[in-house]
Amino acid sequence: MFQRTLARLTVINSFVFFIIYFLFTLILYGYLSYRLFDRVDEAMRLHASGFRLANGIVVPLERPIFDPRIFVLARSTDGRIVNPIPFHENEFKNIDEITSNIEAGELNTKDYEGHVYRIMRWPYVYQEDLYDSDTNFRVESVFIISIVDSEVQLLNNFLWLIIGGGVISVLGIIVAGFLLAKRAMVPIQEAWEKQQQFVSDVSHELRSPLTGIYSNAELMLRYPDETIREECHRINTIMQEAKRMIKLISSLLTLARSDAGKSDISLSLINLSDVVNEVISHFEVFKEINHISLVANIESNVEVVADKDRVHQLIVILLDNAFKFTPVGGQVTIDCYIFNRNAIISVRDTGVGIAPESISRIFDRFFREDKSRSRNSGGTGLGLSIAKWIVEKHAGKINVKSALGKGTKFTVSIPIQRRH
Ligand SMILES: Nc1ncnc2c1ncn2[C@@H]1O[C@H](COP(=O)(O)OP(=O)(O)OP(=O)(O)O)[C@@H](O)[C@H]1O
Ligand SMILES: [Mg+2]
Repeated sequence: MFQRTLARLTVINSFVFFIIYFLFTLILYGYLSYRLFDRVDEAMRLHASGFRLANGIVVPLERPIFDPRIFVLARSTDGRIVNPIPFHENEFKNIDEITSNIEAGELNTKDYEGHVYRIMRWPYVYQEDLYDSDTNFRVESVFIISIVDSEVQLLNNFLWLIIGGGVISVLGIIVAGFLLAKRAMVPIQEAWEKQQQFVSDVSHELRSPLTGIYSNAELMLRYPDETIREECHRINTIMQEAKRMIKLISSLLTLARSDAGKSDISLSLINLSDVVNEVISHFEVFKEINHISLVANIESNVEVVADKDRVHQLIVILLDNAFKFTPVGGQVTIDCYIFNRNAIISVRDTGVGIAPESISRIFDRFFREDKSRSRNSGGTGLGLSIAKWIVEKHAGKINVKSALGKGTKFTVSIPIQRRH
């Protein structure tokens, strides 16, 4: 599947590169040819417009420019061509050929005997005669002729350079297209693999509670005469497994919505101190059962623009972990204060800690350091993924510091003011 996509992307990239190369060289060629001929034409136009006769002879140009490649011819009303400035006429035996088929006011380029001529015919409106050795000519128009061999040669060389460069570049373009396509495929491939991994993790996670429910129900069916009281522990297991599944599915739903960008948060100004205190009150029972002390340093009236329910969920996730991974007799400390225009919530415990190599992975979906232990306590490994998503949605940061056997500290900082 990826090979085909890679090939298609390579073709598309190469095509785009080629079009860019083609357009670029086309513009360059056009510009160069315009610039080259523009200068010649300008010089010719100057000669044409400055051509004047006085007493039958040519008056020198007011603004003379010396361009040995340009020469001037006059055309009489009866169609004869004269060379008003003594010139080596012998060299232009075929002047009629060069000047034929050019209308007054026209500019043309002609190939003649291996040379390229640029010819301009300019009307002469002054009704004046030009005296030749023995006759008079009524000048009707002026021909300005320039040899543009060097310009044409330059353009031809450039064209060949472009074509040659194009042929060589095609190879480079294909290689570049391929490399770029390969680079572009990396995130797609990663996302695909992540998705595959996610599906297999979900199936695996759903299978164990379902197996638990099925086997316990089957065992109950084997002894239909047993009373509910006698089957109490099996019913309890079924309920626990079902509860785990409900938790898993609701966490999955949250993450799926967040992935699809559908789970928007509704921001409002909330009293964070109140939310933290409320969550703490839910953990009172937990605290007593596990004989873990809970120290709370909550600055009063810490106000922040946030989604109340999501922040509530975030604190539950962090406190739940702290209690879950702290042995009997330990201590959990929660702080809430404002620092540098950020609301800080930190949850510290004296629990088992996290191995340094696992730290970077704890926010990954389904990651649990000790799978069996976490699963026994109902863990799905999705808590911190959701916590991270909530923090990011609030433009905040979440950090973790941990020492194995000593404890862990999660610190969340959320900017107190955010644009809605
Ligand atoms: N306070 C902590 N002390 C030690 N390890 C922790 C702590 N918090 C998280 N971890 C480690 O990070 C892993 C991922 O935590 P997370 O909250 O995502 O999943 P969980 O707690 O296992 O499951 P769930 O949150 O769904 O109940 C945990 O399994 C544990 O290994
Ligand atoms: Mg957890």
